[in-house]
Amino acid sequence: MVPGRRLESHCENRRSSHTSMWIIRACIFALASNPLLVAQQIRTGTGGESEDGKRLFVADCAPCHGPDGNAIAGVDFGHGKFRRASSDRDVPEIIKSGIQGTAMPAFSNELSEVEIKRIAAYLHDLAGAAQSTSAPGDAERGKTIFEGQGKCLECHRIKDRGSRVGPDLTEIGSFRRSVELERSLLEPDAEILPQNRSVRVVTNDDVTTTGRLLNQDTFTVQLVDSKERLRSFEKSKLKEYVFLDKSPMPSYQGKLNPRELADLVSYLVSLKRADSR
Ligand code: HEC
Ligand code: HEC
Repeated sequence: MVPGRRLESHCENRRSSHTSMWIIRACIFALASNPLLVAQQIRTGTGGESEDGKRLFVADCAPCHGPDGNAIAGVDFGHGKFRRASSDRDVPEIIKSGIQGTAMPAFSNELSEVEIKRIAAYLHDLAGAAQSTSAPGDAERGKTIFEGQGKCLECHRIKDRGSRVGPDLTEIGSFRRSVELERSLLEPDAEILPQNRSVRVVTNDDVTTTGRLLNQDTFTVQLVDSKERLRSFEKSKLKEYVFLDKSPMPSYQGKLNPRELADLVSYLVSLKRADSR
């Protein structure tokens, strides 16, 4: 039995609380949406427009609307469900002026026109992405993408093929819902399961190693490094041992089109435990 699989089977019970995770993220994003920073990102073109929209959404809107945009009854941005806005054009107006007599505040003083447009565009993308996953993809085509252009085997293993740099995905469909899988592809950093976290260790003689945490006990820590080697360290001989909150996995946002993404997600969903009915 490969070690990755044993860990995988603990997925469900060891998953950290999504909400508390999200609150921490919201704080990080709140810092990141410092107007100066955003302005700089717009100028230098890093981050991308949709990324900015998302950052702003998480900081300013998610506290009420939730990270998936569905926390308010009758409003579900992820599925394009609105009570008041009847077209995309109404959305920026609502953000600007708020909704009188409700908790929805006006943002005209806090956000620039450009920022409001970006948030609106992000909401539009959210709805589009949900549509693409609800239309079932083609798992066969997804497999081709997984093994080909997606280069997923460079880091992941399915049965006896691929690499151990990232988690084993042989049974991933038994543990993760399609929205979660899609999220892993688009925002690898958004939610990293505790058992998939990367760590950096620095030994007393100054050798630094990063890798995916495989196991740890009181005295030792085991990880898989980027060359797929199993490494074991005695904690007493480490001067640094930290968890990294960035995933080594690249985001596939913009690299795969919605069709390809849906195909890939369908393929991942189809990877179920052999004995599951
Ligand atoms: C303090 C809480 C709060 C914050 C912050 C907030 N909203 Fe709202 N929002 C609401 C509530 C409550 C409603 C529902 C109002 C109603 O129709 O009763 C709403 C409604 C909306 C609607 C209309 C939905 C529809 O049904 O047509 C849009 C669009 C919207 N919000 C966008 C945003 C965006 C974008 C942000 C961030 C820039 C944001 N909201 C921040 C509470 C909030
Ligand atoms: C450079 C290495 C790398 C590449 C390339 C890569 N991944 Fe990952 N992936 C990781 C690592 C490391 C993690 C664990 C940390 C995390 O959750 O982001 C991960 C996590 C995941 C997860 C979440 C697993 C779980 O247990 O919830 C999924 C699903 C996934 N990858 C699918 C893919 C697919 C599909 C591709 C190809 C399109 C891909 N990955 C390409 C390294 C990679």
